[in-house]
Amino acid sequence: MEFFNLRGVSVVGTGFVGLVTATCFVDKGYVAYAYDSNHEKAEMVRSGRPPFYEPNLESLLKKGLERSLFKCVNSLEEAVLKTDVTFICVGTPSKADGSIDLTYIETSAEEIGKALAKKSDYHVVVVKSTVVPGTTQNRVKPQLEKSSHKVTGKDFGLCMSPEFLKEGSAVNDTFNPDRVVIGEYDKKSGDFLEKVFLNFYGENSPPILRMNLASGEMVKYASNAFLATKISFINEIANICERVKGLDVAEIAKGMGLDQRIGPRFLQAGLGFGGSCFPKDVKALISFSQGLGYEPQIVKSVFDVNERQAIRAVELAKQLVGSLKDKRVALLGLAFKPDTSDIREAPSLKIIRNLLAEGAVVAAYDPAAMSEAEAILDYPVEYAVSSLDCIERADCCIVVTEWEEFKKLNPEDFLAHMQKPVVIDGRKIYDPEKFRGKLVYAAVGLGE
Ligand code: UGA
Repeated sequence: MEFFNLRGVSVVGTGFVGLVTATCFVDKGYVAYAYDSNHEKAEMVRSGRPPFYEPNLESLLKKGLERSLFKCVNSLEEAVLKTDVTFICVGTPSKADGSIDLTYIETSAEEIGKALAKKSDYHVVVVKSTVVPGTTQNRVKPQLEKSSHKVTGKDFGLCMSPEFLKEGSAVNDTFNPDRVVIGEYDKKSGDFLEKVFLNFYGENSPPILRMNLASGEMVKYASNAFLATKISFINEIANICERVKGLDVAEIAKGMGLDQRIGPRFLQAGLGFGGSCFPKDVKALISFSQGLGYEPQIVKSVFDVNERQAIRAVELAKQLVGSLKDKRVALLGLAFKPDTSDIREAPSLKIIRNLLAEGAVVAAYDPAAMSEAEAILDYPVEYAVSSLDCIERADCCIVVTEWEEFKKLNPEDFLAHMQKPVVIDGRKIYDPEKFRGKLVYAAVGLGE
């Protein structure tokens, strides 16, 4: 492989994408500079503590700090001047109308541009944040040029490379992606970034696809919307299965998934998708499409099915328990999926709101998301210290997140601790045969 002397990479934003990208580069021996406008977050990172839970990240970060390869700096200019490529990894939150808020992207581009004004070497700016087609060309490029007084392509490079990592397996996904997509402003920028990636992955490089900026941006939305479609589709099948004696959606998904054209992944029925990506990206794609004068019917249904799916848990609880007024309902799981402390757009939030509206008393436990939930949520929820503490005296238990810890509970645990042993398995983690004979058990996608 061609020797490529990269001085270092910088990232703007120390969220999942930025921090994981930087620490993975460092693990491969590169120098990485990270910048975050939130100085509190930056301070945590500097002291070796990721601001969120992600498997393997803390050890990578600590190793990088010890080897002095990783630096979290308070000056974006320093990060740009000391490196050859800058990844923009800032958030693109939803606005009230579903479209994305580009404030952080634009401020980052402005600041990076100011640093580029002071730099004579070639530098490539890469948008990694999820942005709708046209954003890098029409919003990032002008901002960079305005504050750098330089010309894109001639004086510095510009790419967009969507991120496909998943929370909970972010480090592994970064080292082993299925593919890397480079949207490029011009060939020189694309060549440069391809070299960066080829050096990073070495012998086992995944396929690297090159395309124009807008296509790179669209691949990300289309991928997330398709994965969300798989989930809403199987949840719809689950809702049908529940109404037919003897049907189990897990069996149906297995039967479908072995067809290589369908594939087994993302066919796990449950209480719907949450997190900081799918809900936001599906909404943004709908809004983007409507802005173009096209009603995206499939994507809109994906969103609608998902909006209702979490509430299935409350409907099942009412079917089994009757009125939930003054009943104690235990929620196992708050995070939007296992192995993360993230509760953004989590199904648990919709379930809590609905349970409280029914007059229930809600107790909750999550192995990683407790402090995040207590800090952010404004609901009268009793936070338990363990799963057993959570189900203690409960009239009904809803499994919301499929943490390994919850899978270890057996019918006897529920029988011993609950007031009335009614279990609603929202992620289908228990064996119905084992549970049904001993207690009242219902699961998403399981017919009677
Ligand atoms: C998702 C994508 O999978 C990543 O490729 C993408 O990079 C990321 O969004 C992003 O845009 O940044 P993430 O949201 O971290 O990643 O997590 P997923 O594992 O995709 O799960 C999303 C939601 O779907 C979770 O609530 C999960 O419980 C749910 N899900 C997933 C199901 O209900 N069923 C499944 O079969 C799979």
